[in-house]
Amino acid sequence: MTVVQRPWWKDGVVYQIYPASFKDSNGDGIGDLNGIISELDYIRSIGVDVIWICPMYDSPQVDMGYDIRDYEDVYAPYGTVQDMERLINETHDRGMRIILDLVVNHTSDQHKWFQESRSSKDNPKRDWYIWRPARTVNGERKPPNNWVSNFTGSVWQWDELTQEYYLHLFCPEQPDLNWENPETRQAIYKSAMEFWLERGVDGFRVDTVNMYSKGEMLDAPVTDPGSEWQPAGLQYCNGPRMAEFLAEMNAVLEKYDAMTVGECPNTPDMKRVLQYVSAKERQLNMVFQFDVVDVGQGPYKFQTTPKNYTLPHFKRAIARTQDLIRPPSDGWTTVFLENHDQSRSITRFTSDAPEHRVAGGKMLALMMAALSGTLFIYQGQELGMTNFPESWDMSEYKDVDSSNYYKMVAQRTNNDPTALAAAHKSLQHLARDHSRVPMSWSTGPHNGFSPPDAKAEPWMRPLEDANVCNAKQQKTNEKSVLAFWKHMLQVRKEYSDLLVHGQYDDLDVEHPDLFVFSKTWKGKKAVTICNFTDKAQALEFPRQVRDEKRELLVSSVDQPGDGELAAFEGRIYLLA
Ligand code: GLC
Ligand code: CA
Repeated sequence: MTVVQRPWWKDGVVYQIYPASFKDSNGDGIGDLNGIISELDYIRSIGVDVIWICPMYDSPQVDMGYDIRDYEDVYAPYGTVQDMERLINETHDRGMRIILDLVVNHTSDQHKWFQESRSSKDNPKRDWYIWRPARTVNGERKPPNNWVSNFTGSVWQWDELTQEYYLHLFCPEQPDLNWENPETRQAIYKSAMEFWLERGVDGFRVDTVNMYSKGEMLDAPVTDPGSEWQPAGLQYCNGPRMAEFLAEMNAVLEKYDAMTVGECPNTPDMKRVLQYVSAKERQLNMVFQFDVVDVGQGPYKFQTTPKNYTLPHFKRAIARTQDLIRPPSDGWTTVFLENHDQSRSITRFTSDAPEHRVAGGKMLALMMAALSGTLFIYQGQELGMTNFPESWDMSEYKDVDSSNYYKMVAQRTNNDPTALAAAHKSLQHLARDHSRVPMSWSTGPHNGFSPPDAKAEPWMRPLEDANVCNAKQQKTNEKSVLAFWKHMLQVRKEYSDLLVHGQYDDLDVEHPDLFVFSKTWKGKKAVTICNFTDKAQALEFPRQVRDEKRELLVSSVDQPGDGELAAFEGRIYLLA
């Protein structure tokens, strides 16, 4: 098979939509498919090429739709399969493509497959999930191993009816499918993939893609002595049969020319990542590595203090993902700072103080537009939306990950107020909830997320700063973050050789305040320089490019100074 050098998904810019929080068309307080359809022109106007819809499948919503009850149906408050067909067509009519979330490491415990599997030990679907007998330790019943789940507690859940444990790497309501069983795999391809490919979707963001092959499931080393349950991500990710499973899955996807981007946590070994994304391996088109995601997080992600990292940490994380395409690699990479599992990038990596937020948002837009790989933008990022404030108490945090973490701290410290305050502070900085609040469309009731006469309040509290950050105002304001994103996406398209495909080199990794990198493509070169501080900095170039002739292509401020970069200013120069 010939490898296409520039398939559509390399230059495409992807816009991620979280259905619950994008736009509520019927006033029940929950976003829906009709709401998405009504804003497709807005999305197109940003300059994006692909939309990615987070899970909209039928689900009891224990983990916001990542617990799927029926792959072939839609969560009723979002709409119907017919609405999805309309969304697919309307997206295509506007010259855009659409990808869905493929969540096939686990299902909901209410999926009919699991209902059958748990009904008896000799049910034909028993082996579709991962069942194990208990261990007995000092006369006590114990789970088969000591792994901690991604949302705290053991990964094993005891099932009274058949007196065995089942595995769930996430919530107990998300039992893991058994990929070792070929019949299960075929059922997954048919129900979760082909059902939607036949309806015209253009690919998938593949959830927790590296967890299908779990290896031997041995006890993990004790790294958290305070707990019975131990982190085991390095064991259950990237198991021995991953390549085989992904090749098999890809054979189905290839028939439809579908794109894939896999979520790839716990994979520090770059050789391993390269295997997943190498064109000749034909496993995945690209992955989301966790290098940038992990910047500033603690041993358990929230177990830290805000901004607990330095700029060189951030730069090294970016370099690792950029290096995936360094020759002779035949792989591809991604550029992203936000998604539904991350807090807002302005808050996390720049400053959300009123006087800096716009500058921070624009500088990050410039930086991202200058990095190689497929670019992903998360809803609201194009407006410069930020985290919700410290004054919001824990009742505003709806996510199972944040609330379980807070409960764990409460339990472990016997409700120690200092520990709880620290947990709250950390969640205010890093929790997934911050990206899940309703989009700020306008200054109207519910920030324009729900219609003015809505019967119900939005499912999460809308932000209080819509007066300074909303889509309606930004559409007509040339100085807005939105206008700057649009401009940067044009610049990126115009200079796609350099900006999308070029080779990345950091020019001064250790510089604590400035991020300076070059991009090279067949004799052409661009240099990006970003001031990551809230103060002006002297405009000084690293020695590699100091004496080169350069021409300013774009700055993130209106009047770039001669010898000085403004606070949170970014620039791209073309070298002559
Ligand atoms: C992925 C999703 C996340 C979800 C988890 C379990 O990490 O992005 O939102 O909670 O998988 O499906
Ligand atoms: Ca609705």
